[in-house]
Amino acid sequence: MHAEITQEIEEYCEAHSTPEPELLYRLNRETNLKVMNPRMLSGHIQGMFLTNLVKMMQPKAVLEIGTYTGYSAICLAEGLPEGGTLDTIEVDVELEDIIRKYFSQYPKKEKITLHIGDALVVIPTLDKTYDLIFMDADKEEYIRYYELVLPKLRRGGYLLADNVLWSGKVLNEPKSGDKDTPALQYFNDYVLQDERVRNFLLPLRDGIMVIEKL
Ligand SMILES: C[S@@+](CC[C@H](N)C(=O)[O-])C[C@H]1O[C@@H](n2cnc3c(N)ncnc32)[C@H](O)[C@@H]1O
Repeated sequence: MHAEITQEIEEYCEAHSTPEPELLYRLNRETNLKVMNPRMLSGHIQGMFLTNLVKMMQPKAVLEIGTYTGYSAICLAEGLPEGGTLDTIEVDVELEDIIRKYFSQYPKKEKITLHIGDALVVIPTLDKTYDLIFMDADKEEYIRYYELVLPKLRRGGYLLADNVLWSGKVLNEPKSGDKDTPALQYFNDYVLQDERVRNFLLPLRDGIMVIEKL
């Protein structure tokens, strides 16, 4: 057994990581002050994980499902190589102003294309093959996003599905009325038996399912 990731350990990790860049710090702060459900934002450590993963993979095309206020989008874009692009999809029109406000201040903004709309509608219109996909939208729809994007992911490419531990709720029988927990339990089981992919569940933050397309 390893140490439980307590608040104190999280703070220690942050204190021993290169500080959050100023733009992301401001976006994080404004999201916490003004936007509903700020816990949805990836945060510094997961954001750095995304940036560094992109740097290591050198993908030409990245897709994000679920922009929220744009924090993870900027982290993904930050790692992109010359000529690399990020498409990011957000259904909530009320978030568009804050997303565009921060994208416009981001020096590599030309790499990012924001699509406002339902991912289930937008994904079929994207005529691209992706090297990396970060799935972080409605948990009940994970299977539908997965089946829509898998054909657009190149062989050897990676799909990351966020929040698959759902604060540990996936370990237990879901409470009545909770639709997200059973959806994530189903998704985790489904991916494991899917012969098109190889996967492992990384217990970073709220759990990231790392899926390689074979
Ligand atoms: C957990 S947040 C994303 C957090 C963001 N990736 C980050 O780390 O900063 C999920 C977002 O997905 C959006 N969303 C939910 N259903 C969606 C859909 N069908 N299509 C596109 N976006 C959706 C929500 O409005 C919300 O902003």
